[in-house]
Amino acid sequence: MKKNIYFSIITLLFLQSCGKNVTNISKHNSNESHNEGQNCMSCHVKGGEGEGRFTVAGTVYDSLKVNTYPNAIIELYTGTNGTGTVQNTIEVDAKGNFYTTENIKFGNGLYPSVTGSTSSFHMLSPLTSGQCNNCHGNTTNKIWIK
Ligand code: HEC
Ligand code: HEC
Repeated sequence: MKKNIYFSIITLLFLQSCGKNVTNISKHNSNESHNEGQNCMSCHVKGGEGEGRFTVAGTVYDSLKVNTYPNAIIELYTGTNGTGTVQNTIEVDAKGNFYTTENIKFGNGLYPSVTGSTSSFHMLSPLTSGQCNNCHGNTTNKIWIK
């Protein structure tokens, strides 16, 4: 009995130290994130060193694509070009980063949009994974808004 309890405690400590399976969701004006522009999921995945396993994450820039753009809104639509319904909404933080550990039901694909203070842009093709900076800033334009 005692042995079992010790074993459970040690297992728990072990899982806490290397699991990093915690809730971590961006909010407007929050300053906790880092590594703007990088693919967050090179670390924030199962087995990675990042805090929280992100299902969607990335960075928003301003129109010159040099500085980040704070406090925008990311939405995931069920239809292309702002059609269908909004399935998830993620607030961009003060550093221009957005991230979430929520379970996202991508299904056959969701269509992201970004909304700033005066405009909204829609991605026209569907996504089944949320590693936005794997493409944006890499194989295609940075995500940007005004
Ligand atoms: C090279 C690996 C790596 C990359 C890339 C990375 N992170 Fe992290 N992240 C970490 C590590 C390690 C921690 C825990 C230690 C710390 O807070 O620095 C962490 C912690 C965090 C935290 C929690 C800080 C806190 O105080 O609670 C947030 C939020 C975060 N990362 C967001 C992001 C976002 C958003 C991106 C992509 C734009 C990103 N990270 C890219 C490694 C990374
Ligand atoms: C597999 C690569 C890839 C991933 C991952 C990706 N995008 Fe895109 N994105 C593109 C490409 C290519 C375009 C341009 C063609 C289009 O709209 O489909 C684009 C266009 C966009 C646009 C419209 C830009 C404009 O100028 O009109 C927005 C906004 C956008 N993506 C946001 C996101 C967000 C937010 C994520 C993560 C949830 C994301 N993208 C993930 C490749 C990607």
